[in-house]
Amino acid sequence: MDERTFGRSGQQASVVGLGTWQLGADWGDVDDKEALSVLEAAAESGVTFFDTADVYGDGRSEQTIATFLRSRPDLHVLVATKMGRRVDQIPENYVLDNFRAWNDRSRRNLGVDRLDLVQLHCPPTPVYSTDAVYDALDTLVEEERVAAYGVSVETCEEALTAIARPGVASVQIIFNAFRMKPLKQVLPAARAAGVGIIVRVPLASGLLSGKYTKDTVFPENDHRTYNRHGESFDVGETFSGVDYATGVEAAAEFSALAPEGYTPAQLALRWIIQQPGVTTVIPGARNPEQARANAAAAALPDLSEETLTAIRDLYDGRIKDQVENRW
Ligand SMILES: NC(=O)c1ccc[n+]([C@@H]2O[C@H](COP(=O)([O-])OP(=O)(O)OC[C@H]3O[C@@H](n4cnc5c(N)ncnc54)[C@H](OP(=O)(O)O)[C@@H]3O)[C@@H](O)[C@H]2O)c1
Repeated sequence: MDERTFGRSGQQASVVGLGTWQLGADWGDVDDKEALSVLEAAAESGVTFFDTADVYGDGRSEQTIATFLRSRPDLHVLVATKMGRRVDQIPENYVLDNFRAWNDRSRRNLGVDRLDLVQLHCPPTPVYSTDAVYDALDTLVEEERVAAYGVSVETCEEALTAIARPGVASVQIIFNAFRMKPLKQVLPAARAAGVGIIVRVPLASGLLSGKYTKDTVFPENDHRTYNRHGESFDVGETFSGVDYATGVEAAAEFSALAPEGYTPAQLALRWIIQQPGVTTVIPGARNPEQARANAAAAALPDLSEETLTAIRDLYDGRIKDQVENRW
């Protein structure tokens, strides 16, 4: 699979990576065996980038990745984790002592001396413009606790604030056919600065696969049930912030645009991959079949202008007003 470079850090990542929130919690039940088989399927399909977080299953996702990579010393996978959401979400918590403690825990969970990439996990907005935060992150690099650091953001404004900082290697952001605002400023700014863009929620939590109906019921312990209105965390993380009924109808129209040989989910991924400025896209997968199908999107041909225009028109007509003024 093609790899792309995170400009500033020089690290390489496959253009399709793997999101591993599903292996932790919040998406219904995934047992350990299934979790390991998802990692295996992704790696066998050429994926060399895993995204995790200390909070996914409170460490379970990191530990599962460690178990898998210990069993496959032949693989070179860049593992990006995140820190900062196991405490109250107040700027005062984003200080060096806490960073060291969170870093110690993630290094233990992942079984490494140095993390490849650590991302601040959608912290309160003022954190992105605090000099001391970046000084502390630079200290983690100097202490060889992390090779590089980045941020995960909710809004385009937060992304632009972080991109302006010289030590930031990557920005993780929601970007998909139902969330196009990053095209305007964030992707061009990241390209100009040599900052990697990690695209999360690329399938709008699965909506863009076109497989849900208005009657689909998700498990109780799935955020698509319990966070549909932002009850537990930012509502933009669930279905990209699109209200479910609108999303299901728009996803049916989106699915009809898939060229022959593409599933709707692959159309969604291919659309992202071919946007300049994207480094890697990290679909979550609940089973090996999904992981393999998502990886296969890397080898599909680029989409035609006609398809791109139709996707744009769908977004402008149905989705844009719901999301652009919020994120
Ligand atoms: N704040 C943050 O930094 C943050 C927040 C959210 C996510 N993330 C990261 O981004 C990753 C990706 O985002 P996400 O998992 O929220 O959303 P996503 O990738 O848009 O959607 C994942 C869901 O899409 C469905 N799916 C995946 N592959 C499919 C395929 N080939 N065909 C049909 N359906 C498919 C599955 O739904 P079913 O379960 O219904 O089958 C899966 O659970 C996460 O795993 C995590 O690593 C980070």
